[in-house]
Amino acid sequence: MGYGLARAALDAGHEVVLVSGPVAIEPPAEARTINVVSATEMLQAVRAELPSCDTLIMVAAVSDWRPRRASAEKLKKSEMSDRLELERTPDILSEVSDLKGDRLFVGFAAETEDLLVEAERKLRDKNLDYIVANDVSHPEWGMESEFNKVVLIGADGTRESMPVLPKPEVARLLIERIGAYRAACVSGS
Ligand code: C5P
Repeated sequence: MGYGLARAALDAGHEVVLVSGPVAIEPPAEARTINVVSATEMLQAVRAELPSCDTLIMVAAVSDWRPRRASAEKLKKSEMSDRLELERTPDILSEVSDLKGDRLFVGFAAETEDLLVEAERKLRDKNLDYIVANDVSHPEWGMESEFNKVVLIGADGTRESMPVLPKPEVARLLIERIGAYRAACVSGS
């Protein structure tokens, strides 16, 4: 979905910086792509790029946890316990909220239950302008499918439920809505 949004934003004439975790698909050639592996690297890249951007769309399914200890060497079985200690990763949207100003922040909420309640909670907690509530409970759309089904929820109370559509079409509609909102903010209407 992230790569689809990058493609749709380019097609709509926007400049795109694509900060991407490891994936098996090719990024659009016209985007400036920054490859990262960890949540910390993604945070650093977003923080560095945000000052020259007017919109941040966070689509990445960032892991909420990481192992507390990492080893550069192979660990011996005898050194291992049967428990993996974890710690929280940084929440990227929350960590860059100091840079928000009049930038638009858009998040995604991929949920299998309580879709709209959870999405609205994240919209408020992360101080976003929009959240895309993404129903991933169904095998025919969502994570492993070429199709998606989303509800676009605005902090201004707007709610648009989109039908099941091919992901490029979902991306095109989202970029259109976000672009129109941005243009209305700039013109003050
Ligand atoms: O994982 P979760 O459903 O909470 O993600 C909601 C939003 O927060 C998404 O836009 C995701 O990219 C973002 N997120 C983040 N940093 C994290 C985890 C999620 O910015 N560590």
